[in-house]
Amino acid sequence: MHELMKGLILAGGFGTRLRPLTYTGAKQLIPVANKPIIYYGIEALAKVGIKEIGIVVGETREEVMSTVGNGDRWRVRVEYIPQEAPMGLAHAIKISRAFLGNEPFMMYLGDNILKDDLGALVTQFEKNRPQALILLTEVSNPREFGVAVVDDKGAVSKLIEKPKEPPSNLALVGVYLFDQEIFSAIEYIKPSWRNELEITDAIQWLLDNGRRVESQTVQGWWKDTGKPEDIIDANLLVLQDIEPDNQGRVIDSTLNGRIRIEDGALVEKSTIRGPAIIGRNSKIVRAYIGPFSSVGDNVTIENSEIECSVIMDGAKICNVETRIDRSILGKNVVINQISESPRTHKFILGDQSRVEIVK
Ligand code: DAU
Repeated sequence: MHELMKGLILAGGFGTRLRPLTYTGAKQLIPVANKPIIYYGIEALAKVGIKEIGIVVGETREEVMSTVGNGDRWRVRVEYIPQEAPMGLAHAIKISRAFLGNEPFMMYLGDNILKDDLGALVTQFEKNRPQALILLTEVSNPREFGVAVVDDKGAVSKLIEKPKEPPSNLALVGVYLFDQEIFSAIEYIKPSWRNELEITDAIQWLLDNGRRVESQTVQGWWKDTGKPEDIIDANLLVLQDIEPDNQGRVIDSTLNGRIRIEDGALVEKSTIRGPAIIGRNSKIVRAYIGPFSSVGDNVTIENSEIECSVIMDGAKICNVETRIDRSILGKNVVINQISESPRTHKFILGDQSRVEIVK
């Protein structure tokens, strides 16, 4: 039944708050548990039976397109919709009209990860057929999100984008269901103070004009991966449910907990405490890999300790005496401690890199 419904994933934008990682790549492609963030959205849509997905792409379109491809691996058809500049979530819907047609659709923000299956959301939408169905969750920092006011019966009465004085702590999660009325709403709204056509304003227009807007509350966890800390937390949450598997070679090592070791990886004279993933062809030698760590492909970690970190493909960490904790290392980053006198630090860091050295 949901096969009629189309999916729209937003993967444009700049990812300013994730610099320097986003200087060289799209934020939606940053790996969480060794999988690009956008894959979680595609999988969630495919799981509820959506077969056609439009992906809105911006400056980083080449990279998104070559990583995601045509959707074959999820048995869906992916179409790319170029957005000339990140002019807002409602703008992204507006330019997708030809792709979306007049059928209801599900919009999923390409930097969001949710544990919940979206089946219950589709069921409620199909049963009640509101003009919009939004997903909400309680947060401690509502100023950073779209915020909703909901009465005791669960009816939405007001939505505000990133309010200075939040009227509630219910944030809008980046998954929405709409029918074609949203296109009319978008025609009426004006750009916000940040010069974007806000989806919250379009939904507010629906409310002000007597259309039905329903809500559902997220049961499991949800992460908007806007900031580096969010990537580390999302990685932690996803790893909690990882399926253990060992396709690599483990020699003279101690492994505890849920651990996935991929093809061609070598773990030697090391300790790994799960949940953790070691990517393809990586080498872990005389090392400690602590809980909630994702090690990408072709990584070398030798004589060093890491914990609760995301280490991307091709990185090398050698002989580092102090444990690397809650860190994100981009592709091919090298950290090497050498014995030399006088003891100095030598850094080659891109713009906006962050290093913390604890004495
Ligand atoms: O994550 C939930 C929040 O997402 C909601 O609570 C807010 O109401 C909603 O406005 C949105 O806020 P953000 O400021 O986090 O949105 P962001 O700019 O990060 O964009 C979300 C995704 O959409 C991201 O993958 C980039 C993409 N995007 C964004 C804009 C503004 C586009 O493709 N085109 C755009 O024009």
